Amino acid sequence: MTADGPSVSVRVPAKLNLFLAVRGRLSDGYHDLVTVMQTVSLFDELQAGVVGPPGRGHHPAGRRKMRVELRHDVVDGLPAASENLAARAAVALGRASGILEADTVASPQAVPDRGAGDHGTDGGSDGGPHEPRTVLDLRKGIPIAGGMAGGSADAAAALVALNQLWGCDFTGEELREVAAEVGSDVPFCLVGGTALATGRGTSLARVLCRGTFHWVVCQAREPLRTADVYRSWDQHCRPSESEPDAVLQALRSEDDVALGAALHNDLEPAAYALRPELVEDKAALLAAGALGAVLSGSGPTLLALGSDADAARRIAGEVASRFARVAVASSPAGGPDVSDRRAR
Ligand code: C5P
Repeated sequence: MTADGPSVSVRVPAKLNLFLAVRGRLSDGYHDLVTVMQTVSLFDELQAGVVGPPGRGHHPAGRRKMRVELRHDVVDGLPAASENLAARAAVALGRASGILEADTVASPQAVPDRGAGDHGTDGGSDGGPHEPRTVLDLRKGIPIAGGMAGGSADAAAALVALNQLWGCDFTGEELREVAAEVGSDVPFCLVGGTALATGRGTSLARVLCRGTFHWVVCQAREPLRTADVYRSWDQHCRPSESEPDAVLQALRSEDDVALGAALHNDLEPAAYALRPELVEDKAALLAAGALGAVLSGSGPTLLALGSDADAARRIAGEVASRFARVAVASSPAGGPDVSDRRAR
């Protein structure tokens, strides 16, 4: 366990974009999207707890100075704590709820996990070793910087966990408002399932999905930054009028062949301009028998749809050498799953 006080664990799934159209740019510089998002069975797990001396500081409603500390099991590619969306979500919720006074939220600090019993920091100048601190302990299973909302999923997990741990009592709607401040995909990650998202990606409508779909999730060797892909779209692409009807119909009718044919992502040419090798990688997925293949979000992860779990495994085996990592997963995968004081 991370914390010596109460703790909450949340398991949260990655997301896929089955359809993504870019209508143009919004006045704030973001892009106006129509996208169908669905959770998929690759998971991160976040445990949130409060560490502090007994009898003092365990309940942050005392509005003390509270450091937010981030521990994690991977180091490569994970953003520093000040930029990590889980830590940023914690700070945003602390401020929005008034549980933490705005000027007492210390900068999040990252601590690589060096094994059980290592509780990390000396507390630094924003709070000594005897000050209470909220610890977020992250176990990554979702590709980092892969276009699968790994960071956004962690942010959603932090919001759900801390809403409970800190006793904020925010409603779903209030949490979604904080989520939208943290990142465009975070509101979807809070609810999960299947949704049609518009605007920045934060306006959500539930979508009916029957059945289960089987995917090969192909992680590229080099990550891509979302902002770079949208900048590339500005340079190379024009607003599109593609509509998601065929994807929505395929989901309603549990038709994997129709879904494979309807998969669509306007960010593909933008990502391919930055990573030309993805074009051949996608062709290889189709040649291996995928019902369809598409870039996931801003990439560089590619998704291939199999007709069933065996077909997905067979395709994965055939293309594995092209990618850094290939996983088989199914969708939809629900939303954040909470448990109190769950032991690992
Ligand atoms: O909202 P989020 O921080 O996840 O977005 C990361 C970057 O992706 C933004 O800084 C922006 O450059 C780009 N973006 C965009 N339009 C969207 C979503 C993201 O331009 N709808």
